[in-house]
Amino acid sequence: MFPQPLPFSHALRVLVKAPIATRQSNRSSLSLWYRMASTNANVWGLQDPSLIKYQSYIDGKWVSAKEGGTILVTNPATGEELGTVPEMGLEEAKSAIAAAGNAFASWGKTTARHRHDILMKFYNLMREHNDDLARIITLENGKTLTEAKGENAYSASFMEWYAEEAVRIYGEHIPSPFTNIRNVVIKQPVGVVSILTPWNFPSAMITRKLGAALAAGCTAVIKPPPETPFSALALAELSRRAGVPDGVINIVTTQKNVIEVGREMCENKIVRKISFTGSTPVAKSLYGMAASTLKKVSIEAGGNAPFIVFDDADIDQAVEGAILCKFRGSGQTCVCANRIYVQSSVYAAFASKLAEKVTAFKVGNGLDETTTHGPLIHERAISKVVRHVEDAVSRGAQVLVGGKRVDGAGTFFAPTVLSEVPAGALSNFEETFGPVAALTKFETEEEVIALANNADVGLAGYFFSRDVGRVWRVAEALEVGMVGTNTGMISHATIPFGGVKESGLGREGGHGITEYLNQKLITFGGL
Ligand code: SIN
Repeated sequence: MFPQPLPFSHALRVLVKAPIATRQSNRSSLSLWYRMASTNANVWGLQDPSLIKYQSYIDGKWVSAKEGGTILVTNPATGEELGTVPEMGLEEAKSAIAAAGNAFASWGKTTARHRHDILMKFYNLMREHNDDLARIITLENGKTLTEAKGENAYSASFMEWYAEEAVRIYGEHIPSPFTNIRNVVIKQPVGVVSILTPWNFPSAMITRKLGAALAAGCTAVIKPPPETPFSALALAELSRRAGVPDGVINIVTTQKNVIEVGREMCENKIVRKISFTGSTPVAKSLYGMAASTLKKVSIEAGGNAPFIVFDDADIDQAVEGAILCKFRGSGQTCVCANRIYVQSSVYAAFASKLAEKVTAFKVGNGLDETTTHGPLIHERAISKVVRHVEDAVSRGAQVLVGGKRVDGAGTFFAPTVLSEVPAGALSNFEETFGPVAALTKFETEEEVIALANNADVGLAGYFFSRDVGRVWRVAEALEVGMVGTNTGMISHATIPFGGVKESGLGREGGHGITEYLNQKLITFGGL
């Protein structure tokens, strides 16, 4: 089946109309179209190729950029070109926000049952297209098909969870101190929401926000990352099939114009809430922009999670936990263990069991069934991992496994275990966001809690211990939003996902719908 490449008529139109300065990039878009048309028999290999869209989605229409610019998306496992999406700018961001504003007038008044039914249709469509949606994730993000199927199931579960939440947006009656007064609180959707998401979960980070927004009665403008826009566009197509009306969901793809588009999404008066997942520095800048109109803000930012193994832990269980939370997505999640602290008496056993398991990993193209771990997203990600490994080694750490880039096409880094990483190493202060397990020895509970809390951020933390007293003490002492005790996996649609300190504001999943609702007091007087 032939994929839909750049719309040819549009490419010709912009080429003729564009000023000379922009024709160069238009010409390359056109040549890309020819290249794809002539060489790309089926880069996607989907059962339903119409899930692949090469245009943004605004007010229920598939649209190209007015200036004709495009963003090239490549497969990180092979470097192969997957296609292009439009380089949208300020004008398109404004029209997406206006469309969401207009759609809110009716979507915000629909019944909760109606929104429940549409979200359930959306959920069922995501399940029905599981194989295709997973394949899109693997091709643009690199994670293995098994992980991508897991992500799609996780992503769809937010739609189901929030469908069920929609019908439970209850209000409250508050007893009045006066006999002739009654107070009632109702909950109303906040309005238009700007959603800005990262590439590490191309689908789930969207639905975690969008599901809550739609269920509450809000409309949305979504800016997906330039590395993985196709999952977002496939979701838009499924939303259309599920019956989400025009303008309720809008997708604006952008890369070069990200600063002006992002600013508009955070400052435009029509937008009443921002939900962002990404790095702490970007989060701070968006938070500042949102302040100009005092919008509601939800932020899930960087993690740098501590992972602690106490001497009373089940070591095999701790190794399994470390594998799960350190190497999920090849180490590219905000909740990945970043600093692994192991008590001295069990250090050697833990390090050798972990190294043995990591040696057995098979790095490769995520489409290959035998692959256990995919590539990193791009060259910048590789450079950061290299910097962290070199820094640790220069300070005396030993490489037990891996430690270098994998030669060949694609952006692969060998799954790595570093031993005796000193406290001053970079990886103790910055998220590595790669497949590097950095092990540090500790002696006492007090010492390790101080080490774990010595961070500006606090998203997730993990520890392994079978002492019930210690479990309570350490869980309470860790300065993080989420603690995994004797498990390396905490994520689920039902839990309040979010952090403390510079890891963010608000919670997603669980009761996260409240972040998309305003409380309104109605006082009935003169009774
Ligand atoms: C993230 O990496 O930001 C999200 C991870 C998760 O939901 O488990």
